[in-house]
Amino acid sequence: MAKPKNTQLAMDAGAAPANYEELFQLRGAPYDGAMTRFPEARREEFLNTIARAGLVPGALVADVPAGGGYLAKYLPQGCTWLGHEPCASFGHGATGQDVDLLPLPWADAGVDAALSIAGVHHLDDKMPLFTELARVVRPGGRLVLADVHEASAVSRFLDGWVDRHNSTGHVGSYLGDHTLDELRRGGWEILSAERVPFHWRFANLDDLGEFAHRLFDLRTSTPEETARTVAAELGVDPQPDGVGMRWELFMVAATPMEPRR
Ligand SMILES: C[S@@+](CC[C@H](N)C(=O)[O-])C[C@H]1O[C@@H](n2cnc3c(N)ncnc32)[C@H](O)[C@@H]1O
Repeated sequence: MAKPKNTQLAMDAGAAPANYEELFQLRGAPYDGAMTRFPEARREEFLNTIARAGLVPGALVADVPAGGGYLAKYLPQGCTWLGHEPCASFGHGATGQDVDLLPLPWADAGVDAALSIAGVHHLDDKMPLFTELARVVRPGGRLVLADVHEASAVSRFLDGWVDRHNSTGHVGSYLGDHTLDELRRGGWEILSAERVPFHWRFANLDDLGEFAHRLFDLRTSTPEETARTVAAELGVDPQPDGVGMRWELFMVAATPMEPRR
């Protein structure tokens, strides 16, 4: 198995370096199982991210890290999805074998937009990725970075409940205003940055518990306990067709900085 050498992925709590590859591979399959069983649960998350990308028909859209390629089906008609996922255990949408995250597999100025959802909180040092993204997005193109904000209930849930009960532990390296400075240093001009609340949608609380249990690979809690904790810590709202689990991401839209003359 090829180890992601230059990805500088954040180490999860309790992960001994010797065991790192194994731990890194553990989460992909159950995550993909959750996404396959409830394929529309995160619809609002994908649509909110795509809405900030200014996509037009014909656009080449990079998705990194892509997981199982769940974003692809939500792209506007006429756009081409280009996914890159370093971890093969995510399955069908992944590259098919374990590869390094960097360098990104696209030419200089080779894509119109790049979208990155819920991945960079696993990177302690995001600069190499931000710089690479600035290389592959064409002048005038767009990056949308969507990940957990450091001051959110979501970050507390992930580093609390999920950390205590999942297979690998969870300590994220979350986004904040410092991320905007890092993006600027990486060659990006910030167009917008906002914390965006939305729902993950389910028919009922049982489905919500099952989804979270699988997605986060929870081992020492039950789906029912997880659903109760989600309701207490994040909030669950009734929806016309079921229930909505409150979730939130910090969404940053940026365009490559013009070179100084
Ligand atoms: C939550 S997935 C996001 C995938 C996809 N963008 C999505 O929205 O479903 C997290 C990504 O971070 C990467 N990653 C790095 N370390 C990880 C870890 N310890 N556990 C899970 N994912 C990890 C994986 O390559 C994976 O694609």
